[in-house]
Amino acid sequence: MSLQEDRIKDLVERREEARLAGGQKRIDAQHGKGKLTARERIAALLDEGSFEEFDMFVTHRCTDFGMDSTHIPGDGVVTGQGTIDGRLVFVFAQDFTVNGGSLGKSMADKICKLQDMAVSLGAPVIGINDSGGARIQEGVDSLAGYAEIFERNILASGVIPQLSLIAGPCAGGAVYSPALTDFIFMVKNTGYMVITGPQVVKSVTGESVTQEELGGADVHSRKSGVAHFCHASEQEAFAGIRKLLSYLPQNNRETAPFVPTADPVNRAEDRLNSIIPDNPNQSYDIYSVISAIADDGEFLEVHAGYAPNIVVGFARFGGRSVGVVANQPDVLAGVLDINASRKGARFVRFCDAFNIPILTLVDVPGFLCGTQQEYGGIISNGAKLLYAYGEATVPKVTVTLRKSYGGAHIVMSCKQLRGDVNYAWPSANIAVMGASGAVGILFGKELAAEPDPEKREAAAEERRAEYESKFCSPYQAASRGYVEDVIEPRNTRFRVIRAFAMLEGKHQDAPARKHDNMPL
Ligand code: HXC
Repeated sequence: MSLQEDRIKDLVERREEARLAGGQKRIDAQHGKGKLTARERIAALLDEGSFEEFDMFVTHRCTDFGMDSTHIPGDGVVTGQGTIDGRLVFVFAQDFTVNGGSLGKSMADKICKLQDMAVSLGAPVIGINDSGGARIQEGVDSLAGYAEIFERNILASGVIPQLSLIAGPCAGGAVYSPALTDFIFMVKNTGYMVITGPQVVKSVTGESVTQEELGGADVHSRKSGVAHFCHASEQEAFAGIRKLLSYLPQNNRETAPFVPTADPVNRAEDRLNSIIPDNPNQSYDIYSVISAIADDGEFLEVHAGYAPNIVVGFARFGGRSVGVVANQPDVLAGVLDINASRKGARFVRFCDAFNIPILTLVDVPGFLCGTQQEYGGIISNGAKLLYAYGEATVPKVTVTLRKSYGGAHIVMSCKQLRGDVNYAWPSANIAVMGASGAVGILFGKELAAEPDPEKREAAAEERRAEYESKFCSPYQAASRGYVEDVIEPRNTRFRVIRAFAMLEGKHQDAPARKHDNMPL
């Protein structure tokens, strides 16, 4: 064997050793928990054979607590680049078989290097989290490593899409890197995110709670809203990530890829003409409207389990990626509450940062009132959505389907809050409030003075009818140019696509400032 052949054999052996990471026993244990290894995950996520690994031979430099005797190449994280649908992505996957995927300085350096490359080349970063948190043996070096990652998460925010998958433990301060990214995917039963685990919770608050109940995928996708997507398996999550990326640009200087469709731009949908019930108190499902107008009826919902009274997600219109925000009459009559406002605001800001036009479908009775909402800060939370729409400079098309009352009307991308093209269906009610509320306020005393209940109700009905004929239609708004047109529901797809086509060259500047001060 020549010297060079020797060297190559040595390289191959070193690679094999690195690929075995924490060893077969720990790999088996990982599989036993229903989890893939870091490299298996990356292979399943990326286009076949596209992964190019970096820093396979990096090791830790810690000498405390016996660490000097074990130097596993790669140091508990697999990093590199590859493609998804042929587009460049950077990916890191923590390797639980190496010191429980715990993060020390070398691991942090690898992740930071990847983040820097991704920003300079303008490509998304996907982080797969499966870690015991800060590597205890490395002390403050681990904390420094986290801070360096957080700094890069912050500087990359709004520059490149950052996606996180939680496929194992993610605990303590470690949760804040995913929390700083744009979208969090979680795997049911294996992924969990907690500030601190059940044992500490028990000792601090006395609460008995399981890991899953405290910070599992269901909890974060339904209750806290921390997670945007919840998947039954890792494979499903990888498919979800791939799908999401198909709607996104590579960075904030580009637009999302155009996806040709055979779905005719001028497809009319007769069923939309009869979707609004005659009774204003009766609901309908907003998904049926979205799927009727989007290309091929496809819609990728974000935050599906959280605040379902507002629906947000991605669709395409005439091949172009569009962020859809829609009130859901089927849940709490589509009212805006704290959670819905936060959910909508975050989505609108993401779309604006990444040049994704926004379609807003409005059927909103107002803001939810009451002590729970006031004490929770509906004022400043509602203002988030208002602010997000008001600062957004991407093309915005609004269609008011039915109710659009009061402050909620203004928030939901109305004309004066920088809505570019605003349409209304003939069923639209653009008013300060609904008829019953208005009559109660304006004529309450007069009606209460009528002793005969039948006459009182007849008088109230008369007042309501008067109010409805004047205000509960789109025509008062149309008469002032607050909506561009009242459109037939069946033509909504065509009108929306034409409006977005018109707006394609839109450019709007913001005034110079260090940064804004949105009501966080
Ligand atoms: C070093 C760690 C580790 C850690 C786990 N390991 N966590 N090594 N630092 N933080 C090692 C274990 O020693 C073990 O090594 C291997 O990883 C697998 O761990 P197990 O406990 O056997 O696995 P499991 O039973 O599945 O439990 C997983 C776990 C548990 C729930 C994550 O390990 C755990 O609670 N770890 C500590 C979590 C924690 O408190 N981290 C610090 C959080 S504070 P061997 O050699 O046996 O395979 C934090 C601050 C961040 O992260 C601040 C950022 C700003």
